[in-house]
Amino acid sequence: MAPPAPSAGVRLLLLRRLLSTATEAAEEAAAPTAAATATATAAKAGKKGGSLALYRRLSALGRSGEGSVSRVLNKWVREGGALRVEDLVKHVKELRKYKRHAHALELMDWMVHARGMNMSHTNHAIRLDLIYKVRGLEAAEAYFAGLPDPAKNHRTYGALLNCYCSAKMEEKATDLYNKMGELGIYSSALGISNLMSLYMKLGRHGKVDSLFEEMKVKNVKPNNLTCCILMTSYASSNKIDAIEELLKEMAEKDVTLGWSAYSTLASIYLNAGLVEKAESALKKLEGLVGADDGRAPFDFLMSLYASAGNLSEVNRVWDVIKVKFSKVTNISYLGMLQALYKLNDIDRMKQIYVDWESNYETYDVRLTNMMIRGHMKFDMTEEAEALWEKAKEKGAEFDSKTCELFLDHYMGKGGMTLALNWVENMIKLPNKAGKLDQDKIHEFQKYFEEHKDADGAERFCNCLRTLGCIDGKAYESLLRTYLAAGKKSRSLRQQIKDDKIEICYDIGKLLKRMDDKGR
Ligand SMILES: *[C@@H]1O[C@H](CO)[C@@H](O)[C@H](O)[C@H]1NC(C)=O
Ligand SMILES: *[C@@H]1O[C@H](CO)[C@@H](O)[C@H](O)[C@H]1NC(C)=O
Ligand SMILES: *[C@@H]1O[C@H](CO)[C@@H](O)[C@H](O)[C@H]1NC(C)=O
Ligand SMILES: *[C@@H]1O[C@H](CO)[C@@H](O)[C@H](O)[C@H]1NC(C)=O
Repeated sequence: MAPPAPSAGVRLLLLRRLLSTATEAAEEAAAPTAAATATATAAKAGKKGGSLALYRRLSALGRSGEGSVSRVLNKWVREGGALRVEDLVKHVKELRKYKRHAHALELMDWMVHARGMNMSHTNHAIRLDLIYKVRGLEAAEAYFAGLPDPAKNHRTYGALLNCYCSAKMEEKATDLYNKMGELGIYSSALGISNLMSLYMKLGRHGKVDSLFEEMKVKNVKPNNLTCCILMTSYASSNKIDAIEELLKEMAEKDVTLGWSAYSTLASIYLNAGLVEKAESALKKLEGLVGADDGRAPFDFLMSLYASAGNLSEVNRVWDVIKVKFSKVTNISYLGMLQALYKLNDIDRMKQIYVDWESNYETYDVRLTNMMIRGHMKFDMTEEAEALWEKAKEKGAEFDSKTCELFLDHYMGKGGMTLALNWVENMIKLPNKAGKLDQDKIHEFQKYFEEHKDADGAERFCNCLRTLGCIDGKAYESLLRTYLAAGKKSRSLRQQIKDDKIEICYDIGKLLKRMDDKGR
């Protein structure tokens, strides 16, 4: 029997991971010295306390708006705080790491405009990247155009190339890349990989191949990222043999592949139904996990072994996680539940869930949802409800996924009254997170009409009103239900007006029929 293929989720996760690694790596390449400087000065700054105190103030700004960074810095200067370019750049990097791009950019702007500090070429590359993120591509292009000639080097060109690749602008990226070639600007494995990943995202696999050929001609040594992109590209054209050739080639060129390259490989093999090869890739993956790689590789292992249909390995990896990490995160618990779900082991799911219940610090509804889904897979509806009741007693709140699970389950079985309870739950969700599609709405309406259930139809209309999707059709259906049930409603005409719905010919006719009935 063919094993279950890895879920689309896993593959997407892998791809996203891969691509974000590509972007980060490219940004890192744009600023390697800054990183080095930052690390080198970190210790000093820590000892002096001064710079760290400044960072604390910047960090405390949270999400405050434009001008807040300048205010902190000006105050700092007035208080006589020390300002060293290296420290400030380190703060920029730190803010950027936490995706506080606007603050990072404001800090750099302040360095230049308020203090007249000179930007090194590396810093220009960082600033370019931040300008792209905060103000968009045109601003980044303008910044690049305005750079003094010596600052237009491989770093700033690389940063601009990265902007084009992130924005998926094939033509501009290619033109820039070609121009870099003409200018003889050193193009690294990273620059090329960046462009490769763009082509892969665009599905231009032929271009990915030709860039790899170009790399060979130019004698640029590929790295593990190049390898991952190529593998993924070959896989999407079903060229499994090419992947094996590639791996040999990488080994000959002494390219070290990280664990994430092997998780990509394993996922590809699983998709192709090559379970044994996948398992051997997973063994390699596990062997490459380093002390500071964290939990992610193990989460991948669980998920991929589940796709391989190997329960004993999933359980073994789980035991490794339990031993290795003093605290098991929500993500790991969730991953384990998903793996067991895939393997149809509901009993083990229950054990894991109970284990989580007695250990969690913060409730995470995703785990309960996963359990509900597990019970429903085996048609254990009552258990699913009981599970939810128990979670509710402990203060849990449902989310849109919970509602959707129950709603779809009951609707699938024709239990429309039970399903209605969950529509009513859904409308209580904050931020209008609940949604009903037209097909579902229609199914409910048809059901109430056929079953002459005026109360149900009324309740359903109230839900539609709260969801902001009540319309003339809903009232037509409600009226037909009333007529079918032989019931009257005095307030309906007013309600239609209150909802600002035009009493069209059809509605008018139905209202009249209802009025006539009572006479
Ligand atoms: C900034 O760089 C320019 C040109 O390299 C130089 O003339 C100037 O002295 C520098 N200013 C500072 C404050 O370092
Ligand atoms: C590439 O290898 C380096 C070090 O060996 C590792 O830190 C990095 O995560 C790897 N990247 C990928 C995409 O495998
Ligand atoms: C699971 O993996 C282990 C280790 O690779 C292997 O010995 C075992 O045969 C596999 N079991 C199944 C059911 O594939
Ligand atoms: C668990 O999930 C909740 C909600 O998603 C989150 O706030 C919390 O930080 C997570 N805890 C851990 C240990 O990951």
